[in-house]
Amino acid sequence: MVDTIDAVGRDRETELLLAALDGGTHIVLEGPPGTGKSTLLRAVAHSRSVGFHFVEGNAELTPARLVGHFDPARVLADGYVEEIFVDGPLVSALREGGLLYIEELNRVPEETLNVLITVMSEGELHVPRLGRVPAEPGFRMVAAMNPYDAVGTARISAALHDRTCRIAMGYQSAADEETIVERRAPVTPDGWRGRAVELVRRTREHDDVRTGSSVRGAIDLARIAVSLGAARDRPVDDWHVGLDAATVSLSGRIKVIESSRRTPEQVVRELYEAVFGPEPSSDDDGSGDGDASGGARARPARAAQG
Ligand SMILES: Nc1ncnc2c1ncn2[C@@H]1O[C@H](COP(=O)(O)OP(=O)(O)OP(=O)(O)O)[C@@H](O)[C@H]1O
Ligand SMILES: [Mg+2]
Repeated sequence: MVDTIDAVGRDRETELLLAALDGGTHIVLEGPPGTGKSTLLRAVAHSRSVGFHFVEGNAELTPARLVGHFDPARVLADGYVEEIFVDGPLVSALREGGLLYIEELNRVPEETLNVLITVMSEGELHVPRLGRVPAEPGFRMVAAMNPYDAVGTARISAALHDRTCRIAMGYQSAADEETIVERRAPVTPDGWRGRAVELVRRTREHDDVRTGSSVRGAIDLARIAVSLGAARDRPVDDWHVGLDAATVSLSGRIKVIESSRRTPEQVVRELYEAVFGPEPSSDDDGSGDGDASGGARARPARAAQG
């Protein structure tokens, strides 16, 4: 995943993040999945050539994992001496004056959050038997969180919010999403790529959908359309190739509201027809018949061609 250095667009967020880091503050980047939070931070960390310590926030992120531990095999022989302490990402970032980047902050257990709060308030960490680890200049914590994540968002305490600044990340513009798809997927026809992005963007506004797809869905749609077109010996912008690629790439990503009677496949097909037009009646050619559309596709009888 660490393959992007340049963030497409995001000039304002980049400027704000740099200013916040230069100002000495800790930051929370808040936005739905796929809005480029990790990409932005990697680009900024790279442009600064500062040490960058990445931590995935989940239930297993205990204080010991974040801070570090004494090598148990050597404690017996050597005792609790500094040399055998294995630095965790927090201690490494403090010692280097680097960036500690925490993904999915809302999934971090309470006791680990408390360690972070202490470090932010005091500018140092006390580790039992190791002692005091002061933050070298430049140490910052940057965390990312999805405000709609059902897991633990409410748990992020006022104490933590009061010690951090916040940059909200919304979805990218349509033009930026097109450029991102262009960079992340093989070549697709220009007009087609714009419509693929339009389709993905419409999943975020559909009445029956609670959560739409991020640009990740558009990247996968383009990737699959290219390989499926090749497999069927059809152009990338073939209507059926596009529908099957859209169904595979988007139906699992969109979450339909509980009260809706419609399946994600039906929603994808409806949006696909709205953007790419209704199913053409005369281009049936018997190309690959893997029905990825969950049976929603009604192919016209060959005899109907005229
Ligand atoms: N501004 C951007 N420039 C370049 N690529 C981007 C940009 N925004 C998103 N992407 C691409 O979209 C995908 C998702 O981006 P990224 O991982 O940065 O999102 P995120 O906000 O960190 O998501 P999550 O909340 O799921 O961690 C990646 O493949 C990334 O390369
Ligand atoms: Mg991320």
